[in-house]
Amino acid sequence: MAWYSDEKIEEVRSRSDIVDVIGKYVRLKRVGSGYVGLCPFHNEKSPSFSVSPGRQMYKCFGCGVGGNVFTFIMEYENYTFPEAVQFLAERAGIELPKQEMTQEQKKQESLRMTLLDVNRKAASYYYAKLKSPQGKLGYDYLKSRGLTDETILHFGLGYAGQGGGELYRYLRSEGYDDGILRESGLFKMDERGVYDKFWNRVIFPIMDVNNRVIGFGGRVMGDAKPKYLNSPETKLFDKSRNLFGLNYAKLGTRKNIILCEGYMDVIALHQAGFTNAVASLGTAFTGQQAGIIKRYTDEVLLTYDSDAAGVKAALRAIPILRSVGINGKIIHMEPYKDPDEFIKALGAEEFQKRIDNAENSFFFEIDVLRKECDMNDPEQKTKFYHMTAKKLLVFEDKVQRENYIEALAAKYSIRKEDLKSLVVTYGNKYPEGIQENEVNEKNDNIRKRINEDKGITYSYRILLSWLIERPDIYNDVSKIIKPSDFYEEPYHEVASMLYSQFEDGEIIPARIINHFQELDEQNMVADMFQTSFSSEMNDEEQEKALNELVIKIKEYSIDKRTRELKDLNELQNIIMEKKELQTPEKLHIYLKHG
Ligand code: UTP
Ligand code: MN
Repeated sequence: MAWYSDEKIEEVRSRSDIVDVIGKYVRLKRVGSGYVGLCPFHNEKSPSFSVSPGRQMYKCFGCGVGGNVFTFIMEYENYTFPEAVQFLAERAGIELPKQEMTQEQKKQESLRMTLLDVNRKAASYYYAKLKSPQGKLGYDYLKSRGLTDETILHFGLGYAGQGGGELYRYLRSEGYDDGILRESGLFKMDERGVYDKFWNRVIFPIMDVNNRVIGFGGRVMGDAKPKYLNSPETKLFDKSRNLFGLNYAKLGTRKNIILCEGYMDVIALHQAGFTNAVASLGTAFTGQQAGIIKRYTDEVLLTYDSDAAGVKAALRAIPILRSVGINGKIIHMEPYKDPDEFIKALGAEEFQKRIDNAENSFFFEIDVLRKECDMNDPEQKTKFYHMTAKKLLVFEDKVQRENYIEALAAKYSIRKEDLKSLVVTYGNKYPEGIQENEVNEKNDNIRKRINEDKGITYSYRILLSWLIERPDIYNDVSKIIKPSDFYEEPYHEVASMLYSQFEDGEIIPARIINHFQELDEQNMVADMFQTSFSSEMNDEEQEKALNELVIKIKEYSIDKRTRELKDLNELQNIIMEKKELQTPEKLHIYLKHG
């Protein structure tokens, strides 16, 4: 992986038409000078995702994401910036030079690469150990759990020996220093020394979709606690963004994904031929994980444990799946606890029957509510119907809701009309629909961004967007507002770049986004160019608003600079600028109409 020059990056961007690229993922419809479609990053029924061929940018007016063609690929494919550049370069038939990194980038990149090497070596070490005479304990354990040699190899399972420092000594002998080994998360280091984190455990390597080992889980072979130890979060391992088994699951030919809780469940299912199983690994299922699954399928079969904790986990996961447009189904495994135990007891054929009889997740949710109510008590029964009616509001689609009303009415012997009128009552009470108790983090971030202070940065966004929309105002605006008047980063940096584009006579805002390599930053910069200002204003109102905006930004800058004054020359400037502000007729910007 390499980082590239500005020119190279821009070449890739300019030769990757955004409508072409996004059109491969989203069905786009031409509207006026742009395109619209259903946003792939949140669940919606009417399109608020728009792509502008002129600007070579996209924006979703529903959830707020936006950017250039790199941003889209990063967001959709879960790529880093350099990976997105490589992906699009290949698509456009552009050859990238091998190495063009700055020192710091080289350092970060080589750190990642080295950590991947360390993990790969550790995984081979554990596997070799399992297969050696000293690994007999671990090997016998895995065998006793019904795993074949083929499965053990396929998943690269291993064994961490009993010494407590074997892996450390091995990796040191391979030339890795303590600094890198610390970052790997595989060791405990304190004043007394260095210890292997995993010892006397069977080892489950965790891989990303590209089959790179990013972390490990280790299980005790008896009843000791904790049952499983897992790698901590590292530069490589982000628990909320990974699913165990996904690297194998995407190879399956099935159209759905089986979502389970544990390592052994995934492995047992794969061994039994259900190669579409993945696990969220003990941590609560996240919106990011749901987003990843959504790239492969719209149908998820949930096989959470049949105990109370499993039901609770399923109840958390269902709305998260729904928020990305997946309607989950529940596989019931009673009387067994989890898929691993089920398959061991009854075999694959019986499990397939359970899949065929999987329960609609909405019915499952309602059934849980029902079990909490004593249906012989009229009060509780009424409460149950009310809760059901309210919950039905999660369906925005009228036909879909109608179908559920009908099904539930039959199931719980309530008159369809009665349930329907209850739903209507709640519908009037919550005209926006109801907020499900769980939403994915992505939506959380979006909400934060939308609620962000509408203070000075909002003014910056509007002015920058306005400059792009009406380039003819640049001459007047730039006489008053200099890049240095954008008093916050990254606004200042973006304004500097935009101003120099104006000076060069070539305005390409999408190019400016190239300079930001984190997704959040790209979203933010895209926002600066696409913050729409009330188009309902007439020309006169627009002119007034623009002038107010410019004065506001100037005053803020003068105020800030006065407070943080560093030298006397600067004071001279400030005094001049202040004077000018007091004679606004000199500053007035006239909008050319029509
Ligand atoms: P379970 O307790 O359901 O275990 O935890 P399991 O998968 O059935 O394990 P076996 O069959 O006894 O070997 C489900 C998942 O939660 C995480 C692990 O990822 C596990 O697979 N977990 C559980 C931990 O991380 N730590 C623990 O101590 C327990
Ligand atoms: Mn189990």
